[in-house]
Amino acid sequence: MELLLPCFLLFISLFTSAYCADKSYNAIFSFGDSYADTGNFIVLVRGAIPYDVFEHPPYGMTYFGKPTGRGCDGRLVLDFIAQDLGLPLVPPFVAQGQNFSTGVNYAVIGATALNLSYFREHNITNVPPTDTSISFQIDLFLRFKNSTCNTTKSCQDYFGKSLFILGEFGGNDYTFVLSAGKSINEAKSYVPVVINTIKKAAETLLQQGALNLVLPGNLPTGCIPIMLTTYASTNKSDYDHLGCLKELNTLGFYHNTKLKELVEQLKVAYPLARIIYADYYEPMIQFLQNPDKFGFTNEAPLKICCGGGGPYNYNFTATCGQPGVPACANPSTYINWDGIHLTEAAYRIIATGWMKGPYAHPPILS
Ligand SMILES: *[C@@H]1O[C@H](CO)[C@@H](O)[C@H](O)[C@H]1NC(C)=O
Ligand SMILES: *[C@@H]1O[C@H](CO)[C@@H](O)[C@H](O)[C@H]1NC(C)=O
Ligand SMILES: *[C@@H]1O[C@H](CO)[C@@H](O)[C@H](O)[C@H]1NC(C)=O
Ligand SMILES: *[C@@H]1O[C@H](CO)[C@@H](O)[C@H](O)[C@H]1NC(C)=O
Ligand SMILES: *[C@@H]1O[C@H](CO)[C@@H](O)[C@H](O)[C@H]1NC(C)=O
Ligand SMILES: *[C@@H]1O[C@H](CO)[C@@H](O)[C@H](O)[C@H]1NC(C)=O
Ligand SMILES: *[C@@H]1O[C@H](CO)[C@@H](O)[C@H](O)[C@H]1NC(C)=O
Repeated sequence: MELLLPCFLLFISLFTSAYCADKSYNAIFSFGDSYADTGNFIVLVRGAIPYDVFEHPPYGMTYFGKPTGRGCDGRLVLDFIAQDLGLPLVPPFVAQGQNFSTGVNYAVIGATALNLSYFREHNITNVPPTDTSISFQIDLFLRFKNSTCNTTKSCQDYFGKSLFILGEFGGNDYTFVLSAGKSINEAKSYVPVVINTIKKAAETLLQQGALNLVLPGNLPTGCIPIMLTTYASTNKSDYDHLGCLKELNTLGFYHNTKLKELVEQLKVAYPLARIIYADYYEPMIQFLQNPDKFGFTNEAPLKICCGGGGPYNYNFTATCGQPGVPACANPSTYINWDGIHLTEAAYRIIATGWMKGPYAHPPILS
């Protein structure tokens, strides 16, 4: 009876009965880019780049009170998931002397799915100097998994009780292709190889014993203020009713369609695993459609909180984190924080939607 009671209370109050099937995890392993980096990039590039905006205020102003290397005013989706599961915030792999028994985060700002040699072979040369792509992140996981478990059996057991979040990936790949002067259609031609790279990484994790694997999709590319600024058009018919660039949105949408197909394939190949598609696209569209409903009450939903002027308040020569670039007073009334990344307020809503629905299929807590 004592055991049943909390379950029953949860059932009648908040959750569906499925929640009672004890969804507790011993650890979270995360891979991805700036939507998930909790502090790797700032350490990896220290001394190598002249000025790292992510190390400077007002990054971190809402929750941590100081910059932590997160591309946000506060917590990311990953942080909310950890807190909702009663686990510590997932430490970046660069954290020296950290006990990784409750998980590790391998995500790095700017990370791509494809490796840098692949880009260079395709004459996409404007890529970062250091390779932090999926294969780099998965290799690290394989090399250092021995800090959490040391036999095949103990690792399979451990990873079977862990939550794996692989992504999002792809956003940076397509951005690099586009900024090399390629068309949206050319960028789309990279979707199959990006998805195949995600597939190989997912299979590696599943073969290591992962039984709970979340695959987040891309954002609506044409609703990201940096993209709206870079690819601004004088032709009104290039924009949809939300003010997003229509054709760019088809890029993120196409990637997500292929990623959902991958999720279905993996479910068939790994029937014992729970493989979850997690959505950044649909919540973003809903925020823009109905901003007030979500508390995004600032003047214009596509306008960013932290930036140095311009139609979306995104300014290439005065970006968030640079000296003198101001943040808004109330970040929680904005969807987008710095022109690329969302505010903590937006991430919180997305995280809740991944945990309980409707933004993950199936929800993580189901
Ligand atoms: C890491 O932390 C866990 C839980 O807090 C503990 O059980 C374990 O012994 C620690 N491992 C090391 C190597 O300190
Ligand atoms: C880069 O990725 C390509 C395509 O997946 C692969 O064939 C190649 O071996 C990789 N190169 C390196 C250096 O990892
Ligand atoms: C890359 O550029 C070189 C030199 O212009 C050219 O020979 C090669 O065919 C190009 N490769 C691709 C994949 O476009
Ligand atoms: C895990 O393996 C790496 C190299 O693969 C090694 O440097 C490290 O000492 C090992 N750690 C443990 C805890 O065995
Ligand atoms: C393997 O890990 C377990 C638990 O962390 C530890 O008790 C044991 O000594 C380790 N064995 C080896 C060979 O390192
Ligand atoms: C604006 O774009 C539409 C299609 O997106 C095109 O049919 C039309 O010709 C364009 N107008 C101008 C003035 O370029
Ligand atoms: C962008 O920032 C620069 C300062 O770096 C400033 O001179 C310029 O006026 C700003 N642009 C807009 C549109 O506010």
